[in-house]
Amino acid sequence: MAASATTVAADLLARIGVVPVVGPSLGGVLSAARPPEVAAALLLLAALALALARLAAAAQRASDDLDKIPGPWRSAVPVLGNVPECLRHDFHRVILNWCDQFGGPGGGGGKSKGGDNGNGNGNGNGNSNGNGNGNGGGNGGNGGQGGIVRIKFLWRDTLLVTDPQALGVIMGRGDGALDKAALAYAPINGMCDPHRSPNLLTSPADDAWKVIRKAVAVSFSFQNIKRKFPVVLSRVNELCGRLAALGPDASVDVDQAALRVTLDVIGLAGFGHDYASVRQDTPAYDHLLRVLPRCFTEVMLRVANPLRPVFPRWFKNGPKGEIAFKMFQKEMGMLLHQMKERGPPDDDDHDIAAQLYRVMAEHPEVSEARVLSEIGILFVEGFETTGHTTSWTLFNIATHPEAQRRIAEELDSLGLLWKAGAPPPRELELDDLKRLPFLSACTKEAMRMFPVVSIMAR
Ligand code: HEM
Repeated sequence: MAASATTVAADLLARIGVVPVVGPSLGGVLSAARPPEVAAALLLLAALALALARLAAAAQRASDDLDKIPGPWRSAVPVLGNVPECLRHDFHRVILNWCDQFGGPGGGGGKSKGGDNGNGNGNGNGNSNGNGNGNGGGNGGNGGQGGIVRIKFLWRDTLLVTDPQALGVIMGRGDGALDKAALAYAPINGMCDPHRSPNLLTSPADDAWKVIRKAVAVSFSFQNIKRKFPVVLSRVNELCGRLAALGPDASVDVDQAALRVTLDVIGLAGFGHDYASVRQDTPAYDHLLRVLPRCFTEVMLRVANPLRPVFPRWFKNGPKGEIAFKMFQKEMGMLLHQMKERGPPDDDDHDIAAQLYRVMAEHPEVSEARVLSEIGILFVEGFETTGHTTSWTLFNIATHPEAQRRIAEELDSLGLLWKAGAPPPRELELDDLKRLPFLSACTKEAMRMFPVVSIMAR
């Protein structure tokens, strides 16, 4: 998002630095000088005037171009920019409103359909934060399509881009692609590792990133996911058993249920550690189920407020956020310790822990702190993204009876539908997912309507 920083710096230098220095002092020099000195001074003056004119022209061009971009930058306050308006944990809503207000085709004025937005949210770091108003009104924001909106992040110009084509280029890996905006992602590093090491999500695509990315990609291959599918199935079945035992009239927090399965699957399939989340009645304060959301809230607040990590005591719940980070790091440290204790993995073990162990063994330049940050990011990225996406999908299916009927038909055609009075259906297999196109489409549509990662920073 932080675009044009250099042009803005030039603009500021030209406006603030050069002009006052040249003006008053030169008059004094000229009045007391002899002819050769006058000539030299005139030459100097001409050179300075030329340089100044060039700087002014460059600054003018830069600000002219930027000034054509609509956005709340016009109402930004000096130094702090638009940051004061964003000092809330759900600042993505403020950003969405700006995109609606200013980002319409032709620059401004487009308004979202469908009322308030129903986004699952997302933080400025490409991860999610567990709420969303859930009014089912669609994701609104169509006014933002095609849009570029200018805001001031502190004194720096920042662009909010909602144009899908431009995003394809910016987020891709080819020409025009931009690396992660380190500043915006920094709070995630602080969450994962006390040394604030970057990780797969937050690092630029440097050598360490490539090594780790290549290693971890093996864990996400179809073949490895297939090996791990029984873990997914067993936790889902356990959850279904527990929910069934509550009886038909029980009120169930489906989002919490989906988060619990997700945490168990990441722990077991990725690191061979059982968080037993599905089995918890009331998870302890230091259980990851409760630590992670506190950390995400703190990350969101730190993204919006760069002073928060520097002076945590100045801000509401600042110390609480710091403690949550420490609890999370302790837990990730425990997983790292277990990984090292287990020693070299078997040749056919391609779980995330095994792949990270291989990185450590084969690339001593990748530090332990970096690996700690990598372990953390897999929980940061995997937990609320998957949990909320699952619950948004179920929410949509539940509120669209026609879609529900079609999904039931599809499941029935494969012998996978539960029917009252009939014998239980066969167990789902991973390959069945290819034969469930309508269910897959519903999942994708839920992700389109309620993207849990709605903001990414470059
Ligand atoms: C529905 C579920 C998920 C969604 C919607 C999702 C979405 C995303 C998005 C949008 C990004 C790019 C973020 C950015 O550029 O700022 C990303 C990156 C990433 N995700 Fe996920 N994610 C999901 C599940 C997972 C899971 C289960 C894991 C691992 C356990 C995971 C691990 C990662 C990692 C490591 C990255 C950084 C990789 C890179 O930049 O190359 N994600 N995810």
